[in-house]
Amino acid sequence: ALRATFAPKAVKENRNLNHNLQPQASYKVAVLGAAGGIGQPLALLIKMSPLVSDLHLYDIANVKGVAADISHCNTPSKVVDFTGAAELANCLKGVDVVVIPAGVPRKPGMTRDDLFNINAGIVRDLVSAVADNAPGAFIHIISNPVNSTVPIAAEILKQKGVYDPKKLFGVSTLDVVRANTFVAQKKNLRLIDVDVPVVGGHAGITILPLLSKTKPSTSFSDEEIEELTVRIQNAGTEVVEAKAGTGSATLSMAYAAARFVESSLRALDGDADVYECSYVQSDLTDLPFFASRVKIGRKGVEALIPTDLQGLSEYEQKALEALKPELKASIEKGVAFAQKQT
Ligand code: NAI
Repeated sequence: ALRATFAPKAVKENRNLNHNLQPQASYKVAVLGAAGGIGQPLALLIKMSPLVSDLHLYDIANVKGVAADISHCNTPSKVVDFTGAAELANCLKGVDVVVIPAGVPRKPGMTRDDLFNINAGIVRDLVSAVADNAPGAFIHIISNPVNSTVPIAAEILKQKGVYDPKKLFGVSTLDVVRANTFVAQKKNLRLIDVDVPVVGGHAGITILPLLSKTKPSTSFSDEEIEELTVRIQNAGTEVVEAKAGTGSATLSMAYAAARFVESSLRALDGDADVYECSYVQSDLTDLPFFASRVKIGRKGVEALIPTDLQGLSEYEQKALEALKPELKASIEKGVAFAQKQT
């Protein structure tokens, strides 16, 4: 079952905590880029998790106020702010999950790949600090282009000798969130029941919703498949255009990232039934990185789930073949960038 809410449970358990009625799990989470459009609402949602004991908020500017503000919420976690590279190491020490939404977002007319020149260096530097200070942490990469920034992160971790492919995740949860929402609307289904796996990558045609695998089992006309697939692939651009130059998805992204953090924390806490789609190192196709459903456990990715990719419709099979060259090029671009740094 997919968890849709955070708030009621968090508040209820916090009351218990205050009265010392039950032991609480206590994980440390760091958000790098916490003063940004995604970072702020994401930090707020993570603050509501009963599984978090410490919330470390890092940015190059403006994070003090964000942390002071969020710290007044009477949920269990302690909020600490860290500003600038000199405070990054302390931000990361002892952290279990590091979430990275640092970097520039798209403006109308831009592709995610247009962000490469700025965000590649930001991700390189932040992941390098994670390697030095929190080498065992789960790393969630939100900064775009995710198709390239995850391979960059992998290379940097390899260079530092601490790469554990099971713990490096590209956050593609928003694609699943959007697919679930649009399919439920189109087919008049209860949102809470709908689950559409989204595979491939996280940009344009590399985002491949597997509508034939929708749960509950649902049939679509060819027109519906085309319309829904294109809408899911372009949903980010829909938001970029609506925001008309002021940024890209931040609120739905924060919601999606918070869900992925919560799933990771439940997995760390021993829940044996945690499945999410994520862009990870993979051998499900001939590409070294690929988004698919994965089972997450205490040590990170416990298994890649191959079944979604079996028995694809003709439309999906074609789309899968069509996305591979673009995804491959994005992966190679990331790897080449990271290898140039040594
Ligand atoms: P934003 O510009 O509002 O915030 C970015 C934050 O990163 C700023 O506070 C900035 O100070 C900070 N930052 C810049 N360089 C940094 C550094 N070296 N260390 C730490 N922090 C640094 O941007 P927004 O809207 O929050 O988007 C952030 C990223 O997330 C973008 O790359 C965007 O493309 C990506 N994104 C990813 C999605 C996904 O599905 N994976 C969906 C939506 C956005």
